[in-house]
Amino acid sequence: TINLKNRSFLKLLDYTPAEIQYLIDLAMELKAAKRAGREKQTMKGKNIALIFEKTSTRTRCAFEVGAFDQGAQVTYLGPSGSQIGHKESMKDTARVLGRMYDGIEYRGYGQQIVEELGKYAGVPVWNGLTDEFHPTQILADLMTMLEHAPGKTLPQLSFAYLGDARNNMGNSLMVGAAKMGMDIRLVAPKSFWPDDALVKQCLAIGEETGARILLTDSVEEGVHGVDFLYTDVWVSMGEPKEAWAERVSLMTPYQINQRTIDATGNPNVKFMHCLPAFHNADTAVGREIEAAYGLQGLEVTEEVFESAHAIVFDEAENRMHTIKAVMVATLGD
Ligand code: CP
Ligand code: NVA
Repeated sequence: TINLKNRSFLKLLDYTPAEIQYLIDLAMELKAAKRAGREKQTMKGKNIALIFEKTSTRTRCAFEVGAFDQGAQVTYLGPSGSQIGHKESMKDTARVLGRMYDGIEYRGYGQQIVEELGKYAGVPVWNGLTDEFHPTQILADLMTMLEHAPGKTLPQLSFAYLGDARNNMGNSLMVGAAKMGMDIRLVAPKSFWPDDALVKQCLAIGEETGARILLTDSVEEGVHGVDFLYTDVWVSMGEPKEAWAERVSLMTPYQINQRTIDATGNPNVKFMHCLPAFHNADTAVGREIEAAYGLQGLEVTEEVFESAHAIVFDEAENRMHTIKAVMVATLGD
């Protein structure tokens, strides 16, 4: 039997396939229980710290709603206002917060920062996104895939991730697919393929799990026959604005548009994105980049984003159920 009590959730590499499946199954149970009005609170009287050194909508709200649903209290520590980062080290912060809180979420920059927090806090620490990994997002994505493929298991599912395959999403999706024995294609310019060491590690995991991992710069080859198309922003939080100039021309062939949908050969292919997405000029950044480069839609077109292929808001909702599952499994009674 699986027991994750008092464990931190820092990256998927630390978890076995059975543990990952357990968290997805628990999220599905919690989702059904909430919908039926029969959710049981397992975190009454617990206090949870939410550290955000980068901005967030989904992750913050998922932790807050998940905690409140389960009877816990939260404290939000935003990108400014606390001593973190400028006046106090993560090692000291960890030992302070660990004396007051029962669990700590961290979103920020280097993975080694959240690892340090986990090492010294003495309570479970959950990774709400680092430059390298976004593990709670992957739980939501895998859960959403299962919901949209009734009767199938993860090893029976295939997906292509297009765009920046070196970022936290590319890395974590590759690890998740490797762990769960899936068919993943990372479709990107060669200079945006994940780090060699991580690819090797995932290929080795795949030897055990039966995962098929393809790295290609050919959209045709990468997307053929897949069940899901996935993309993410071309420039991530914390990267310099200047990165757009180089990325836009390199990434444009990897935009998900109607031609990409057609190239899958699967009329029922689903479109996924962790969000936020640049698909129109309804945001300041989208407007600026679209105008500067003469594009309509960046990593995905408005047409695909608003089409029946898109399941992005199911994914967003499932952030809450999966994050709640992580908290319940590691901290709940
Ligand atoms: N997908 C995701 O992590 O969204 P936020 O940045 O809004 O938390
Ligand atoms: N790669 C994106 C993911 C946002 C959820 C970023 O890090 O900004």
